[in-house]
Amino acid sequence: MKLAPKQILQANLKSVAAMWHKMRLSWLGLTKVWEKAKLAKLGPVKVTSIVETWQRVRMANLGMPSLAFLCVAGLVVSLTLMLLGQRGDNSLKEQGRQVFVSSGCSNCHTVIGSGVAGSAKRPLGTPPDLATTPYRTDDWYQAYLLKPQAILPRSPMPSFTNLGDQSTKAVIAYIQSLKPKQSPATPQPVNPGDISQVSNDFASYRTGKQLFQTYCQGCHGLLGNGAGPVGQVLSPEPRDFTDVAWMSRQTDAYLFSVISDGKGNTAMSGLKDLLSPEERALLLHYIRYFSDPIARQRMEQALPAE
Ligand code: HEC
Ligand code: HEC
Repeated sequence: MKLAPKQILQANLKSVAAMWHKMRLSWLGLTKVWEKAKLAKLGPVKVTSIVETWQRVRMANLGMPSLAFLCVAGLVVSLTLMLLGQRGDNSLKEQGRQVFVSSGCSNCHTVIGSGVAGSAKRPLGTPPDLATTPYRTDDWYQAYLLKPQAILPRSPMPSFTNLGDQSTKAVIAYIQSLKPKQSPATPQPVNPGDISQVSNDFASYRTGKQLFQTYCQGCHGLLGNGAGPVGQVLSPEPRDFTDVAWMSRQTDAYLFSVISDGKGNTAMSGLKDLLSPEERALLLHYIRYFSDPIARQRMEQALPAE
């Protein structure tokens, strides 16, 4: 028979009450022994009283069995609490599943299994099976639901600003629960020699700029200062590339590895699947200009008007 958590809790409460009663009984026994000992006033009586106490304790059915009982009761209580805690967790996911269906997500997204896996290989505009998408943080999802195109520019998905905080939280918990436990992104070491050469000409600057405005601007902002349309939703906020001191400390190899593989526990996810190594090198080249305002201005002025 499967007991509902509520029943288990009730049963526990009853046994705790019974235990309390027994303890009180034996306490009464102990005080009686103590009084006898006090009356007799003498040492030998004390010795007998210890024996007597033990007997009384045994009579009150405490002692070792009750110690074991105490342990078991403690274990059951903590298990129940764990169970109840998990139930709370499950109910958030369950709530999220309901939001997923009632808000029309499931009209487009297949739930579990049958979608085409792999974002790059998926035909343009096909909703992915959310059980197979890459690792994303909760704040990435939050930003994505607000403005899908700010993050995945080719996304035909409508924005879901009307869900409200609780439903958004629940639907994110649901999406996370569909995925196997994944470890956060870790930038893989890159050999500086493996980064494609990019020339310092206008063509490279312009292509880099176009790529940036398509794939990065939603978070990092048009001016590279982290103030993109969804930047504020994120924690930590997107990196400010105009921070000269920070940028000058970073090697090309590090920045390139983050652009490729993402940065763990932040909304920055890698673009290896979406962009070629040349495109990622052009992006790296372009974001360096944000921390060199003079060179950037020169490039901007020389760009033909579009
Ligand atoms: C009109 C169809 C449609 C609806 C409705 C829709 N989506 Fe999407 N969704 C898409 C498409 C298409 C993509 C793929 C975008 C891309 O890869 O550029 C997508 C992508 C996503 C992603 C990004 C996956 C990733 O990690 O790359 C998430 C998360 C997501 N949808 C969640 C939702 C949720 C939650 C809802 C409901 C609140 C929803 N979608 C409703 C079509 C839809
Ligand atoms: C979903 C929002 C988002 C998008 C889109 C995005 N980034 Fe980021 N980016 C972040 C966040 C968040 C960080 C981490 C900031 C931190 O750790 O303080 C970051 C950090 C970085 C860093 C520095 C790594 C570090 O240690 O902080 C680089 C380089 C970077 N992003 C490049 C890019 C490029 C290039 C693109 C476009 C191809 C891009 N990002 C797209 C959110 C985003």
